[in-house]
Amino acid sequence: MNKQPVEGFSKLSKDGKIEWLVNEYLNGDDKAIKTLKQYWNNDEDLQKLHDEFSENTISNFYMPFGLAPNFLINGRLYTIPMAIEESSVVAAASKAAKFWINRGGFKTTILSTEKLGHVHFIFKGDCNKLKTFFDEVLKDKLHQDTADITKNMRARGGGISKLELIDKTSQMENYFQIKGTFETVDSMGANFINSCLEQFAKTLQTEIATSSIFSDQEKESLQIVMCILSNYTPDCMVRAEVSCKVEELKDGKVSAEEFVEKFTRAVRIAEIEPYRATTHNKGIMNGCDAVVIATGNDFRAVEACAHTYATKDGRYSSLTHCEVEDGIFRFWIDLPIAVGTIGGLTSLHPLVKLALDILGKPNAKELMGFIAVAGLAQNFGALRSLVTTGIQKGHMKMHLMNILNQLEATEEEKQYFVNYFKDKTVSHHAVINEFCRLRGVSHPDELKKID
Ligand code: MEV
Repeated sequence: MNKQPVEGFSKLSKDGKIEWLVNEYLNGDDKAIKTLKQYWNNDEDLQKLHDEFSENTISNFYMPFGLAPNFLINGRLYTIPMAIEESSVVAAASKAAKFWINRGGFKTTILSTEKLGHVHFIFKGDCNKLKTFFDEVLKDKLHQDTADITKNMRARGGGISKLELIDKTSQMENYFQIKGTFETVDSMGANFINSCLEQFAKTLQTEIATSSIFSDQEKESLQIVMCILSNYTPDCMVRAEVSCKVEELKDGKVSAEEFVEKFTRAVRIAEIEPYRATTHNKGIMNGCDAVVIATGNDFRAVEACAHTYATKDGRYSSLTHCEVEDGIFRFWIDLPIAVGTIGGLTSLHPLVKLALDILGKPNAKELMGFIAVAGLAQNFGALRSLVTTGIQKGHMKMHLMNILNQLEATEEEKQYFVNYFKDKTVSHHAVINEFCRLRGVSHPDELKKID
């Protein structure tokens, strides 16, 4: 039967929303109620806090919160909290941390910290007049009219760093921007930037309307299209790097020279081949996102920015790079990252607060460093496996537990499988076969359906 749109859904109670869901989408099967409610927290205040982070919430969605210890960063030891559901990511990060702890550790450098936003507008008139008006009248007025909004930020050392009029008419008829550059110190700054931009738009409208230099036609032509920050922040950039003598890179049976050659080639491939670069960068973001999420930041913004930056030279390319110079191997990432350690979820979500405590209550610059280090470590771990043992060995070992959980294996059976696969390659097929043999069934269909 065709479904009808629902009216006033947001006004229903939580139970009311669940009841509607069960009736409308789950054929009245109330098993869903148990599933949803088993994730509710017994602490009502904590549950309410989580409910209010978003809208129309009916339950919580858990994500594993793990730790990657032994990160030596700028000479200090850290444990990095990571929220991620993909097996192997935390293990790979921890392994890379351990590898580099005896080779000088990670180094981070903040290259810049500025964020951007735009008022996109249409103006049909004399461009030169608009430019003069912007420089001589509007710019000061934009600062004045946002003085209240920027007051606290200025007291913390931030504010509006630069205002420019950008002429985009060569790409789109009559299209201009007010481009604002902002320093938001330890906050991510999205609300601050957007509030400033919306005030800029109002000021632009008022000042043009009351100016004597524009004709009535020019005044009437002004249209604000939108005011919004840009998630592309190429001037909010951190570098994370590792380096050591080539001879220190001997890896198991692989000689140092061979390892460096293979590793460097893998990075070069990601630099020139977008198909590989996408997967290469996905692995980097495995590490970055896990820290971004654990610290209550917006991983979609960090992702969007990273991928735009990856295309900066006109082709999607690797975010990491490596070189060998005078016998020194150097591997690094330059990554634009806009995050905050105050505001947003950072003081509201108890686990986020804890994650920031674990990292030693970092400021935004330090957090940028941790995120970049996690990405670099992840990429090092992935490439190291890919060019030596292959990725599946480690991955499938981690995935073994997922398969066994799907099969509803007992603890005893799980232990058996861990031993069984100690010297064998794990594959879905191999696990199912051995599981059938162990349970004395001839075909997987006789087991609980697992897909
Ligand atoms: C898997 O989530 C990430 C990797 O594919 C990254 C890579 O290939 O570099 C292992």
